[in-house]
Amino acid sequence: MRTKIEPFRIKVTEPLKIISREERIDALREAHNNVFLLDAEACVIDLLTDSGTGAMSTHQWAAIMLGDESYAGSTSWKKFEATVRDITGMEHIFPTHQGRAAEGILASTRLKPGDVIPNNSHFDTTRANIEFVGARAVNLLCPEGLDNTSEALFKGNMDLAQLEQCIAEHGAGRIPFCMLTVTNNTGGGQPVSMANIRAVKQLLDKHRIPLVLDACRFAENAYFIQLNESGYGDRSLLDIARDTFSYADGATMSLKKDGLVNIGGFLTCNDDAWAEDFRNALILREGFPTYGGLAGRDLEAAAVGLMEALDQEYQEYRHATVVYFAKGLDTIGAPYVRPVGGHAVFLDAKAMLPHLEPLQYPGIGIVNALYVEGGIRSVELGSVMFGSFDENGTEVPSPLELVRLAFPRRVYTQSHFDYVLEVIDEVWRKRERISGHRITYQPHFLRHFTCYFEAIS
Ligand code: F0G
Repeated sequence: MRTKIEPFRIKVTEPLKIISREERIDALREAHNNVFLLDAEACVIDLLTDSGTGAMSTHQWAAIMLGDESYAGSTSWKKFEATVRDITGMEHIFPTHQGRAAEGILASTRLKPGDVIPNNSHFDTTRANIEFVGARAVNLLCPEGLDNTSEALFKGNMDLAQLEQCIAEHGAGRIPFCMLTVTNNTGGGQPVSMANIRAVKQLLDKHRIPLVLDACRFAENAYFIQLNESGYGDRSLLDIARDTFSYADGATMSLKKDGLVNIGGFLTCNDDAWAEDFRNALILREGFPTYGGLAGRDLEAAAVGLMEALDQEYQEYRHATVVYFAKGLDTIGAPYVRPVGGHAVFLDAKAMLPHLEPLQYPGIGIVNALYVEGGIRSVELGSVMFGSFDENGTEVPSPLELVRLAFPRRVYTQSHFDYVLEVIDEVWRKRERISGHRITYQPHFLRHFTCYFEAIS
């Protein structure tokens, strides 16, 4: 059959309240025009993130009842550890309450001021954790990754020439490790090829620089490799994931993505000295090494979820949803990052609103219009999230102005996505009337979460 159906049926439902357009306008005003500050109840379809928003399976809920809440050495920990080791092959495994806790432990134990950490593209919490300890986070994405119209298949790849140049410029002694984010969330959820992972590792080995994967969406990345990289078509997703991790010396993971759970993360490494540092920091901040900020039941659910994320039918269905949605956008004519990534569709706000300057935040214009028009919550990945300030304090825009519609895992059906497409169609028709925004309040770190906006009339 041509139709890829959801490989599950629905046993428990959650009501969706649809508030009126007038109520949405009021809600957005009260939220200072920042959708992060909206009540979830005021949203019809919440595509703010795919992080921790997925639905768990019957197997996961059943596993939760097996949760062993012993402080040390619980059976739940044993299952979790065995599963993570089976997939990653890593020597040392530390559970954390979510991905950024793993990043925080990695950055605070391994970095000092002046160090430089390359990545294809750092996610915002990764960058913030690195900068918080006085090190520098640099993005070395391949040029296709910055071209929203390029149909290249692995637009999350690291630019090897830039990596080589970065090492030559700063010296290996200033680069305690290099990162690779699979898939590359910031650049459109684009995958990284196995060939690129291997080549990055080879280059780093010459300089004795360890490679740390940001592995949040490792299963989706494995699916893209299976789909599009020669030599992997008949390999299982688990096999491809194992290959991926075999090139890494460590990994940070948010289980809220491809762990298919609502909370959790982990940090792994092979090096004993790193592990000693991680263990000490973990005990101080997260918890005893066999639970690390999670309940036994969380570890159980994650152990099952990690393997479900590597299920072939699940990944085929998930990808089919994203492709279906992209075809709908083609019919409307709204520009988006091509080809579509793994966990989300990224609208190109710069191309949608050419009448706005980057520092009038076109992404915020689209995000807010989608909310008012249909109660869709999305997120800007542009100059608000990734802009920076130069040494004179002048704001420098981000190269891309994107709006991410992230797809929670196993949550919304095809008619929900049809509704979202209708809302986008409305916004697309009215695009010339969408105004820019200015920021009226912002905190020092991670401003997008809590800043206030005002529409420029
Ligand atoms: N790395 C990547 C690539 C991420 O996408 C995220 C989270 C993290 C690290 C941090 O993990 O949230 O568990 O602390 N991304 C979410 C998102 C928040 O919406 O993309 P966390």
